[in-house]
Amino acid sequence: MKAVLCKAFGPAENLVLEEVASPEAKKNEILLDVHAAGVNFPDTLIIEGKYQFKPPFPFSPGGEAAGVVAAVGEKISHLKVGDRVMALTGWGSFAEQIAVPGYNVLPIPSAMDFTTAAAFSMTYGTSMHALKQRAQLQPGETLLVLGASGGVGLAAVEIGKAMGARVIAAASSAEKLAVAKNAGADELINYSESNLKEELKRLTQGNGVDVIYDPVGGDLFDHAIRSIAWNGRLLVVGFASGRIPELPVNLALLKGAAVLGVFWGSFAQRQPQDNAANFQQLFAWHAEGKLKPLVSQVYPLEKAGEAIDSLANRKAVGKVVVAVR
Ligand SMILES: NC(=O)c1ccc[n+]([C@@H]2O[C@H](COP(=O)([O-])OP(=O)(O)OC[C@H]3O[C@@H](n4cnc5c(N)ncnc54)[C@H](OP(=O)(O)O)[C@@H]3O)[C@@H](O)[C@H]2O)c1
Repeated sequence: MKAVLCKAFGPAENLVLEEVASPEAKKNEILLDVHAAGVNFPDTLIIEGKYQFKPPFPFSPGGEAAGVVAAVGEKISHLKVGDRVMALTGWGSFAEQIAVPGYNVLPIPSAMDFTTAAAFSMTYGTSMHALKQRAQLQPGETLLVLGASGGVGLAAVEIGKAMGARVIAAASSAEKLAVAKNAGADELINYSESNLKEELKRLTQGNGVDVIYDPVGGDLFDHAIRSIAWNGRLLVVGFASGRIPELPVNLALLKGAAVLGVFWGSFAQRQPQDNAANFQQLFAWHAEGKLKPLVSQVYPLEKAGEAIDSLANRKAVGKVVVAVR
């Protein structure tokens, strides 16, 4: 089979496309014929050796995939050969086949194509878990989404609207904000041009925002936490800016606020039934047209490195997908 390989930590231009042996499914795994693979920010980190997981070389990047079950291990009962599925893989999806533990694989609705399915699980799974189990977002509350046109950010905008919140989308350019508006955002803030704290004060009549969804970290975190409402919740989702911020905890005390970590991969593994229920809701909203996953660009397998670079260079909007077959 063909696979994109990372043979040493380094930039995406060092990735190579090679012919390698197909994997085999162990007892608790399925073998997946990969049709499409979603690109996510962790792909930019894993090839550089900056991610929390460091797979042995050579490995294929690619944290999520959609395709068809080609074989099942003897302990797998919820899936069969020929099922159309999406899978959370961590790495390995930029290849024609991958063996995946069964608990990380979900059947996809018959109306959902592979490109959409490959762009769905990581971003919507993360944002649903963040807003539902962690923040317990309520209808009528105000939700601020930072990096609102990115993968997880745009999913948070749509899910926030589906949950009945007033969504303030914040991003670095007018083009990116137009994408967030199209996804349903009620208010827009361009944080390259305006003062985030002042804008939030204006948009909330000085009350602050109830829930902050932060996949960016760095300076944006520092400004946003000062604009949180009484009883507010700040969701720590990621650090796309490259800086893990530090919190003066008196700010949490003064607002009776909570800072909540979000780690969807662990949640999916530790609470599979809750995760499956989340996806039933997400699939229902998708069928009702409330979620419209935006795949802005599809790259062929041999250009997977360029796809990763589009996220690293802050160029991507919505989701970028690699067409594997
Ligand atoms: N906790 C979890 O379970 C979980 C799951 C998935 C992803 N994540 C994390 O969430 C973050 C976003 O992932 P994603 O896949 O949604 O990425 P993405 O599509 O690339 O979006 C990231 C956004 O961050 C903003 N950003 C600010 N500074 C940036 C920089 N220096 N480089 C790149 N982007 C920058 C960009 O928006 P502007 O240009 O508008 O600022 C961009 O749209 C990552 O840190 C990722 O590791 C966490």
